Amino acid sequence: MASINLLHKEYVIEQGNFLKAGEASSAIKQILRQLGVSAGVLRRVSIASYEAELNMVIHSFGGTVSADISPHAVVLEFADTGPGIEDVELAMQDGYSTASEEIRNMGFGAGLGMRNIKRCCDGMDIVSSAGGTKLTLTFLV
Ligand SMILES: Nc1ncnc2c1ncn2[C@@H]1O[C@H](COP(=O)(O)OP(=O)(O)OP(=O)(O)O)[C@@H](O)[C@H]1O
Ligand SMILES: [Mg+2]
Repeated sequence: MASINLLHKEYVIEQGNFLKAGEASSAIKQILRQLGVSAGVLRRVSIASYEAELNMVIHSFGGTVSADISPHAVVLEFADTGPGIEDVELAMQDGYSTASEEIRNMGFGAGLGMRNIKRCCDGMDIVSSAGGTKLTLTFLV
């Protein structure tokens, strides 16, 4: 049986826009808080969505984040338009980063974002090609 979808939201993420970076994650967190989602789930969604959003701002050409909230799960889909992750397994490893010097000077690029995302979610799926990356995260509520 298909599960009931309470809410569907979409946000546009712009490449290199550090002024807006984190806004989609904050908006999702706010909605979940209003829905009465537990503090533990809120924290896990916040960390993972912030890391994934920042990865889109820093490493991709931009794209969209969609949030589907049902009574039992929160599913976030981060879909960007490229350049893609050449080696997903490598990208998942702690300390691996292709961040530039400029980005590192801003405090990013430790290569720990993907690890943090994995730690915080209940399901993580990555499909990537030169045309873009689709990261799907599932959180059980
Ligand atoms: N959406 C994406 N598009 C293209 N490459 C990506 C994307 N997300 C991650 N990557 C690649 O995976 C690498 C590892 O990502 P991860 O988030 O772990 O580290 P980081 O973003 O480099 O540093 P940190 O998250 O610790 O600030 C990135 O350096 C980048 O090469
Ligand atoms: Mg990152």
